Amino acid sequence: MTSPKFLTPVQVRTIADKFGTPIYVYSEKMLKASAILTNNFPNAFGLKVRYAIKANSTAAIIKLFDSMNIHFDASSSYEVERLLMIGIEASKIQLTAQELAPNLKELVGKGVLFNACSLRQLEAYGKLFPGHRVCVRINPGIGSGHANRVNVGGPSSSFGIWYEYFDKIKSLADKYDLTIDTLHTHIGSGSDPAVWEKVTKMNLDAVKEFPDVTTLNMGGGFKIGRLADEKTTDLMQIGSKVKTFFEDFYKETGRKIKLEIEPGTYLIAANGALIAEIDDKVDTGKEGYTFLKTNTGMSDILRPTMYGVQHVMNLVTKSGDLPKETENVVVVGHACESGDILTPTLGDSEGVATISLPKTEIGDFLVIEDSGAYCSSMSAINYNSFPRVPEVMIMEDGEFVLIRKRQTMKQMIENEL
Ligand SMILES: Cc1ncc(COP(=O)(O)O)c(C=O)c1O
Repeated sequence: MTSPKFLTPVQVRTIADKFGTPIYVYSEKMLKASAILTNNFPNAFGLKVRYAIKANSTAAIIKLFDSMNIHFDASSSYEVERLLMIGIEASKIQLTAQELAPNLKELVGKGVLFNACSLRQLEAYGKLFPGHRVCVRINPGIGSGHANRVNVGGPSSSFGIWYEYFDKIKSLADKYDLTIDTLHTHIGSGSDPAVWEKVTKMNLDAVKEFPDVTTLNMGGGFKIGRLADEKTTDLMQIGSKVKTFFEDFYKETGRKIKLEIEPGTYLIAANGALIAEIDDKVDTGKEGYTFLKTNTGMSDILRPTMYGVQHVMNLVTKSGDLPKETENVVVVGHACESGDILTPTLGDSEGVATISLPKTEIGDFLVIEDSGAYCSSMSAINYNSFPRVPEVMIMEDGEFVLIRKRQTMKQMIENEL
């Protein structure tokens, strides 16, 4: 355990005093640095970065990326509407969704780009927009994920059109006079460089099959090392290989293919943290465990429960002193739910594991690190009627700006009749 990754203990206590806990905190400076890094992804013939807003769809974060020349990947028609509502230009948004958008005609009519993720979606688009251009998502036959649930390629994944069905894609394109100018794959959030190399080659082979394709979107999946033994993807390492493959493809075919990437995790995971408070401490005797109960959990952060993963947790005491003595504890959430565990056994969301923390007191703060992505946007919101938590941005000049207010009870129940 070290001190918090991007927050000082004084900042933690100040934020908690000013806004209360639990609360998400993001660093403007780090978000900008991540945007610059991704915009520098090596490429041969042009690059567009799309931020996968499912990772974190808070308006202030989206607007920050918009100002950094980043475009957007929306996973549902609702995400598209959300982006439009906060003022993002339609032409910067691509819809890549499992569910066929009921308002596809209206959204594409506004200029939103469509990525057909199944044969049914391609046909529906063709009927609405014969003679138009389109992007097609393929499942290249392999995937990569830090957990099975984030592996979205290969035979056990329903995402994209299976790579053996190119003939069906072509005949639908012919039927509706569609120009397939973009191919898309997203194989999962594991980003093993060797898998990326293999998939790039497979994708470029697929591009050969579609003569009108000018852009290849390789999806996201660049990993952030959340625990000490996990590696953060080296974008330059992956990108320089990908660039070489695109150059080789040009030499072979005379076609200059533009690259798109669609990171979620990489742009934001490490740039956010969740500050919570120790609410209680109980134990189950000599043979049992010491449990730290927090005032957060699956209602704010679901990843541990869902994937059997842990986030590094750093303790900031109320007093400012860090006790020398440590103890092994199981950290749990506040939901009345046995699965609400913040320290599950790695790879087994049902097991409990201990972590070593300095001896804590009730009221101390726990900083749950690397919780910028798939946390605030992917929690069991309002379970046990816990309100959605506020979010704060630490601006480059050090100011704390509230970017989402705490949900009120009235808001929680306002649609109930
Ligand atoms: C189509 C698509 N693109 C991009 C992403 C972003 O993935 P990551 O957050 O691993 O970069 C996802 C995540 O599931 C996705 O489904």
